[in-house]
Amino acid sequence: MRLLVTGGCGFIGANYIHYLFETEPGCEVVNLDKLTYAGNPLNLRSVEERHGASGDGRYRFVRADIADARAVADVFAEHRFDAVVNFAAESHVDRSIDDPSPFVTTNVLGAQVLLDAARKASVGRFVHISTDEVYGSLGPEGKFTETTPLAPNSPYSASKAAADLMVRAYVQTYGMDAVITRCSNNYGPYQFPEKLIPLMFDRASAGEPLPVYGDGGNVRDWIYVRDHCRGVHLALTRGAAGTVYNFGGNAEKTNLAVVRTILAALGKPESLITLVADRPGHDRRYAMDFSLAARELGFAPEFDFARGIGATIEWYAANRAWLDAVKSGEYLKFMEQWYGGRA
Ligand code: NAD
Ligand code: DAU
Repeated sequence: MRLLVTGGCGFIGANYIHYLFETEPGCEVVNLDKLTYAGNPLNLRSVEERHGASGDGRYRFVRADIADARAVADVFAEHRFDAVVNFAAESHVDRSIDDPSPFVTTNVLGAQVLLDAARKASVGRFVHISTDEVYGSLGPEGKFTETTPLAPNSPYSASKAAADLMVRAYVQTYGMDAVITRCSNNYGPYQFPEKLIPLMFDRASAGEPLPVYGDGGNVRDWIYVRDHCRGVHLALTRGAAGTVYNFGGNAEKTNLAVVRTILAALGKPESLITLVADRPGHDRRYAMDFSLAARELGFAPEFDFARGIGATIEWYAANRAWLDAVKSGEYLKFMEQWYGGRA
């Protein structure tokens, strides 16, 4: 199996490439990544060593922008892919509130450029990685299904919904074999520390205040990243063309509950929790009905929240150097700009 994986130096993409080399014998992977602030080739160091040019040659990294049609065409001219898995995106809601424009360029135009290149190269399957956020926000009851109407509330989720519609258009108009996966909040190794769990781990470890938005009662459905990767691969290998598959972790938690779990694991006091100004347009609750993926793909999350958060905290504690390394100058600038005005 020869795959083009985009955004493979980010959190989920890197976990997926590790998953592929652990579970898919003989696979070959080209990882196309622009290396934005969120892209870190160190996430794939062991893959590069074993499978890069000085290893068995089954892994190749290309630094390129998915929205750059010429660069993308060059990659397709050089390789024949069985499938494309598109993880590349601007992924942080707060940054999209600060500046929506890179979200449109990468998440919408980038997806369209990739779809076009894959169509022209007659690639067997295109897997587009989307999110539960395209459905908007839930009240206290119910879950999102694949037929829940799209109602995105942030520039990030609007850009993801726009890309999903573009994928749908390529299926309907050109008969392309594409599958969309929509997943809930991931957590686990290699997540950039702007996102809730690694951010709170980092700040709690240092005894710094933990900025919780609003009343802390917003609910997310947490899925351990390895489970999401397995779901994506099932969608690639077993999914029906033109289908959307939801994935979730069956682990609804309020933000306060997540933060308290991290504090308890680190033996830090709850007095570090600081309620700050709410995120504008903050979705109240997400929860995924993934019964379609369970039925058609045999998907079920293997990690419950207690096991997943334990493994995650252990990983960040053992990889302090990784955490410190990704907190570059650009990270500090965003943190100051975003949180400076909230406390
Ligand atoms: P991330 O921000 O950690 O990584 C994104 C990666 O994409 C980085 O390596 C970055 O360098 C790369 N990238 C960004 N713009 C690019 C461009 N123009 N061209 C090529 N590469 C580019 O994101 P993540 O959390 O790993 O999310 C991956 C995908 O999964 C995204 O599409 C996101 O919308 C989706 N998703 C994320 C979650 C979550 O909880 N993190 C949940 C559901 C869906
Ligand atoms: O649901 C899937 C989505 O999950 C993905 O599509 C996105 O790419 C991913 O970033 C994530 O989005 P969220 O906005 O849910 O994740 P984030 O980690 O930013 O926030 C999780 C919750 O924690 C949310 O309710 C906002 C809250 N929060 C977040 C931060 C960073 C805080 O209270 N304080 C914070 O400092």
